[in-house]
Amino acid sequence: MAGKMKVGVLISGRGSNLKSLLEACAAPGFPAEIVTVLSNQPGAGGLDHARAAGVAAAVVDHKAYDGRAAFEAALTTALEDAAVELVCLAGFLRVVTPAFVRHWQGRMINIHPSLLPLFPGLDTHARALAAGVKLHGCSVHYVSEEVDGGAIVGQAAVPVLAGDDPDSLAARVLAAEHRLYPACLRLVADGRARLVDGKVEISLDCDGAAQIFNPPLRP
Ligand code: GRF
Repeated sequence: MAGKMKVGVLISGRGSNLKSLLEACAAPGFPAEIVTVLSNQPGAGGLDHARAAGVAAAVVDHKAYDGRAAFEAALTTALEDAAVELVCLAGFLRVVTPAFVRHWQGRMINIHPSLLPLFPGLDTHARALAAGVKLHGCSVHYVSEEVDGGAIVGQAAVPVLAGDDPDSLAARVLAAEHRLYPACLRLVADGRARLVDGKVEISLDCDGAAQIFNPPLRP
């Protein structure tokens, strides 16, 4: 087997998605390895997950740089020093510039807590509740210059339930995120998810009859 794809993860906070990626990468035969974790926030809890897994973790504090370009240049230097082939954004709360996106074009993915193209941007769970949708979820997508607008690798749907508030809905979506992101990373790393003409083609048998209903189809 060819070597594992070298992955760098960018975080800003608690890092629960990072943790799910670290756990997936620890499994024998997983086609990716996390070689570095970078946080723009010095206190990010995710840094501890990286260190506990024996993965190099560092702070690249945006406040220490004179402008976005200098901050992103430092990120790229750190990622390239670690020979990163794919960047995974996992709760990285800085909007990246077009220049950074172009540099990592086709080599950077993100997880977003909605079924894109619905609800790009912030406060997705509150907006889903306000819109009254009955299915919500999360998406893993390539990062493009349009915020949350890049080619979709995979999505997971969850029901919106009576009585949900943004926190309860966020928790249900987050549990799905923790399964979706490793699954998508696997497909990108082993070449079964490929960017073709601005869309992602997936080579994987899928149950075309699978359906999720909310409300459920009960008499
Ligand atoms: C997740 O909901 C992710 O979809 C969004 O930010 C949150 C990060 O959570 N981009 P965590 O830091 O991975 O726990």
